[in-house]
Amino acid sequence: METFWKSPSNIALIKYWGKYDPQLPANPSISFTLSACHTETRVAALPCEKQNDVQFEIYFEGIKTPAFAPKIAAFFKRVAHLVPWVYDYSFSIYTQNSFPHSSGIASSASGMSALALCLTDFHQELGNDLDNPRQFASELARLGSGSAARSVYGGLVVWGKHNDLPTSSDVFAVPYELPVHAEFNSFQDVVLLVEKGQKETSSTAGHGLMHGHPFAERRFQQAHENMKRLMPILKTGDLEGFGEIVESEALTLHALMMTSQPNFILMKPNTLAILEHIRQFRKETKIPAYFTLDAGANVHYLFPEKDKQKVMTFVTEKLLAYCKNSEYICDFVGQGPKSL
Ligand code: DP6
Repeated sequence: METFWKSPSNIALIKYWGKYDPQLPANPSISFTLSACHTETRVAALPCEKQNDVQFEIYFEGIKTPAFAPKIAAFFKRVAHLVPWVYDYSFSIYTQNSFPHSSGIASSASGMSALALCLTDFHQELGNDLDNPRQFASELARLGSGSAARSVYGGLVVWGKHNDLPTSSDVFAVPYELPVHAEFNSFQDVVLLVEKGQKETSSTAGHGLMHGHPFAERRFQQAHENMKRLMPILKTGDLEGFGEIVESEALTLHALMMTSQPNFILMKPNTLAILEHIRQFRKETKIPAYFTLDAGANVHYLFPEKDKQKVMTFVTEKLLAYCKNSEYICDFVGQGPKSL
């Protein structure tokens, strides 16, 4: 059997930060699925004699990369109860990202969702009927990396149970089910690459530090409140309200890191400089362009498509000076994964 998927990265507006076994989120999150930042993964599976561990080899950008093996092995172990046939096959996994591996852009969301979609194809090919294959893929992806659960759908995607969203679940992500103003369908995300290379503290370690965190319970409650506040905003296209929540979520995420034990700081001086410029530009021009951050130093700059020209002039003239080698990636809200 062989299959091939392209799956995008995503950027959270309301952040997932904190989880409990087995990979269940401490609060609901919502993200834009992106387009330009994606992973392409081809998997070939050959029958083999049953083994205690799943047999596989992994090629990254055409080169055998055993360094990725522990993460993939852990993923196979976690999903084996859903796809028990994995022990009867030996897998060759060929994967590549559209963005440089060292760009500081996490490849776990796009990478794990692409792999999950490949396994879902095999699962069906082996005669297992699925009512909702995408949902199954999202559940598998979640077990690889929480944020990957959201990457199996395009547009706005929710992961984690919220009382006002009946289809939402902790087990898999779902497309955001309420009305969305057209403005958000073509939102832009310019990723400003402040810091490249390996982060000092991984997201997984950061999630762990939410156990016993002094502000954990209040934070989880706040995420529920922010999700509720966001619903009418997404419907009416209230960009100011949108930006207020999104920037607050980004700063809250980093505040949680700075107040955990041990604490850690992922923002760099250039991150802060960019945030200040972004706020100043907004004050001066009234253009509704807002920042968000993931668990790193890079800045995601979100704005409506109609303002692209003016914002890009500002990015080029003011913000690139704070990026490593003036590097950035122009991304936008995308349609979700594609079978290749
Ligand atoms: C800050 O999904 O990378 O990007 O589940 O341990 O793989 P694991 O963590 P991961 O965490 C992402 C956290 C975040 C916020 C978000 O995407 O919601």
